[in-house]
Amino acid sequence: IVVKHLEPFRLSLEKLKVVSTRLRKDMIRGLGKHTHHRAAVKMLPTFVRATPDGTEKGDFLALDLGGTNFRVLHVRVMEEEQKMVKMDSQLCAIPQEIMLGTGEQLFDHIAACLSEFLDSQNLKGQTLPMGFTFSFPCEQKEIDKSILIRWTKGFNCSGVEGEDVVKLLKEAIHRRGDYDISSVAMVNDTVGTMMSCGYRDQTCEIGMIIGTGTNACYMEEMKNVKRVEGEDGQMCINTEWGGFGDDGSLEDILTEFDKVVDRTSINPGVHTFEKMISGMYLGEIVRLVLMKLTEKKLLFKGEVSEALRTKETFETKFISMIEDGLENAKKILTELGLTWDLVDARVVRLVCETISSRSARLCAAALATIVDRIRVNRGLPHLKTTVGVDGTVYKKHPNDELQKAMHFLTPDCKIKFLVSEDGSGKGAAMVTAVAHSLSKHPHCMMVPPLCFTVRND
Ligand code: BGC
Repeated sequence: IVVKHLEPFRLSLEKLKVVSTRLRKDMIRGLGKHTHHRAAVKMLPTFVRATPDGTEKGDFLALDLGGTNFRVLHVRVMEEEQKMVKMDSQLCAIPQEIMLGTGEQLFDHIAACLSEFLDSQNLKGQTLPMGFTFSFPCEQKEIDKSILIRWTKGFNCSGVEGEDVVKLLKEAIHRRGDYDISSVAMVNDTVGTMMSCGYRDQTCEIGMIIGTGTNACYMEEMKNVKRVEGEDGQMCINTEWGGFGDDGSLEDILTEFDKVVDRTSINPGVHTFEKMISGMYLGEIVRLVLMKLTEKKLLFKGEVSEALRTKETFETKFISMIEDGLENAKKILTELGLTWDLVDARVVRLVCETISSRSARLCAAALATIVDRIRVNRGLPHLKTTVGVDGTVYKKHPNDELQKAMHFLTPDCKIKFLVSEDGSGKGAAMVTAVAHSLSKHPHCMMVPPLCFTVRND
């Protein structure tokens, strides 16, 4: 009977194919000049036109905002050794009041953290090129102009959606008046991940995050990016695949639990795909399933504990811990104030496995769509490529499910996964470095100190 309740989470490989076909169509819609306004999958141009070639070098400042912390890093890129070294960094927590406060408060907090770091490093007189990893969907006008479309992942600061994030940061710095910055290259974390892996492995042309949120980017042919002028070369597209399904296209695979998670989130109706996959939501899905099974008297002799009844008490990290072994399951269930027996512990483990395996399979369906698109774009029968990956959900879970599904969905492609080491931090430096070296390129329209647009005319 338990299995019957878990059935809606089990997606067959055939179903994954259907999901992949839908995403393929949505990606085309997102790229289109006249269709992108209404597209659920936004396919945002990033103005990053090249992956690293290994000759990049220099000192950079990187800012990173995407989770519950803000970080500033001083990164040195060394050409001789082809490596990036984090010289120093500072972390500032973003308390919940700020995540849900005003934009002004958020950017004042960021500017203060940056100021402290520059002081501690004695960098206030200098103007190092700066990259800002801002891991939210942004409509980029240029590499240094980035308008927030919407907050995700628990952020909801007022007065930022629809505004240019670089402008808000600069205004906050001017309000302080103790230092200034020049240009800022804006980077999504997927792009940072692709670029930092790309420095190590130049075949890396996809970046994927499965962490608090989920998303991927890849190198698309410019001729298909109808919203940006120019036909030659490539541009990295931030797919924002988390929004897949926001137009109702995933209705047939949404379970009653997914609907509750969405309804009780701070952004109902948006980022449907993300809510089935990423760390911010997986624990809550498991909790809701456990509640239901308990109500049906299939678990814990029908007795729900106070903790289990409370929203978000079942943390996503419990899932991988429980998958690791029954002993962990027993410990966690006791901590949640539940009275359990061995059968209960096994059932809970099955629930965790089911939810995390659905997440992995859905990711595989989406990633397969991108990989196959690159293959078709290049007119190749087979494609060998590398995906840079980051995010706790990817790192903490066994990934054989994802790889098995990929193998089935893209039999013509050979995919290497490269786990990024701090792509959000170092990747921002790399984007800035590549933008700098492109600005020395003869075909580049110079907009000092960064090259924003490469034209061949
Ligand atoms: C955001 C993306 C980001 C992803 C992973 C999503 O919620 O919309 O921009 O890349 O999370 O951090």
